[in-house]
Parts: sequence; C-alpha cells; structure tokens
Amino acid sequence: MIRREATIGNCRLILGNCTEVLPTLGKIDAVVTDNPYGMGYDTDSTRFSSKDQTLYKRPIGAGRSDRAIHGDNQPFDPSTWLTFPEVILWGANHFSQRLPIGSTLVWLKKKPERYGTFLSDAEIGWQSGGYGVYAFHAPDSNARRRLEFTGSTLAPATAHPTQKPIALMQWCVERTKGKTILDPYMGSGTTGVACVKLGRKFIGIEIDEGYFDIACKRISNATERPSLLLEMSNDEQT
Ligand SMILES: C[S@@+](CC[C@H](N)C(=O)[O-])C[C@H]1O[C@@H](n2cnc3c(N)ncnc32)[C@H](O)[C@@H]1O
Repeated sequence: MIRREATIGNCRLILGNCTEVLPTLGKIDAVVTDNPYGMGYDTDSTRFSSKDQTLYKRPIGAGRSDRAIHGDNQPFDPSTWLTFPEVILWGANHFSQRLPIGSTLVWLKKKPERYGTFLSDAEIGWQSGGYGVYAFHAPDSNARRRLEFTGSTLAPATAHPTQKPIALMQWCVERTKGKTILDPYMGSGTTGVACVKLGRKFIGIEIDEGYFDIACKRISNATERPSLLLEMSNDEQT
C-alpha cells in the first residue's frame, strides 16, 4: 500500500496509490491537486520539436518522450476529493459534469500575442465554494518550468511532462486557509514546494517512483536551501 515514504521538514511524501493510502492519513484541511485530467495526454513532446526561431526566441531542442501519465487514459472521477473542507482540482473542464457549482480558476499560460498559435492558451481549475472566475496570468510558464527544474531557462528538460509553475500552485495554496494541504497526485512535487514557501504542512502522494524521487529532491532542496528557489528576470521569459 505505502511502498515508501519520506518526511522532509513539514512535508510527508508517500509513494503509493492515493485511493489506497487516503484512509490511513490523519486530518486533511485542503486538497490542492493537479490530478490526471482523463484526456489521454500524449506525453511524446518530440512531436513539437522545432527550431523555428520565429516561434521561440531560442531553440528548444528535439523534445523528449515521457512515459504516459498514470490513470490519464480513463475519465477522472473527482468524487473522493469533494468531501474535503477545501478543494482545488485542475483540468476541471474535462470532468465538469461531475462537479458541483464552485469557483472557476483560469491559468493563462502564454503571452497574449501567442494566443491561438500553439496548444492551449490556458487551463481550467475548479475550487469548492463561491461561483466567481479567477485568473492567474503566468505568460512565462514554459521557461519557468525549465528554470525551476534545471536552474536554466535554456535547458529543454522539465521535471514532469505536466509540471506546473511553483507560482501557480502557490496562488492555489494561498486561496485556501487550511493548515495541512494534501496533493494526492503530486507528480514532481510542485504543490509541496509551494507549501514549503508558504509555511504550510504538506502531504503528497505519487504512484510513479521516478516522479516520487524527483519530488523528494525538489522539496528537500526547497526546505534546506530556500534561497535557491529561483526567480526569473523579464529578459529570460520565452
Ligand atoms: C498531472 S500530474 C501532476 C504534475 C504535478 N502538478 C507537477 O507539477 O509535477 C498527475 C500525477 O498523478 C500521478 N498519479 C496518477 N494516478 C495516481 C494515483 N492513483 N495515486 C497517486 N498518484 C497518481 C501520476 O503519476 C502523475 O505524476
């Protein structure tokens, strides 16, 4: 059930299947997660390889072929997570028929001049309570993902094919009041890094051992050397 676990500062990281692990956990105040959307996302980014300098300021390399995201090949069922006091789920447009009325979150991930040119301009999240629409604009999201994993905006690598910017997950965590945050679909641990920055307790669960190890490393770095959490200057944004 729990295949491995690590405690790093105020973070408890668990390698396992979240639906099996959940009953063993203590009190959770809020669930903040970037769950599998249930869209069968094609993680082979070599299909986007481009040296087209009109689209990118710098060559981004040939892309890479990541393993498929566990559970993404079937519709996502959010019902388990809807019972918690505060909930934020990403990819909500893919399973909106299974959600009650709540607030809509929008992550605008590109510069406006690139809207409509390549993949999605934004992602949609759902938050329990309220009914407004709230936007987070991070026009530098792609460069940010690379910087936050490798320390360079030029490196092609990210930690995870659907890695979120730390600032986005920080915005999400700040939208909740809870002391202990659970991310049952932790991936490379971005929500955990956001919790470290905000001084919240964090529990993260990940089923893929490779991503679990990356999450342990990122959260450990954030805990031990918070000054290394990099911020990006304007001229680094792509
Ligand atoms: C969309 S990704 C999260 C990416 C993360 N936000 C990041 O920044 O790296 C969802 C993650 O959930 C994991 N996952 C899928 N089903 C799971 C399950 N039943 N239990 C635990 N983790 C699961 C996948 O392996 C994947 O890494």
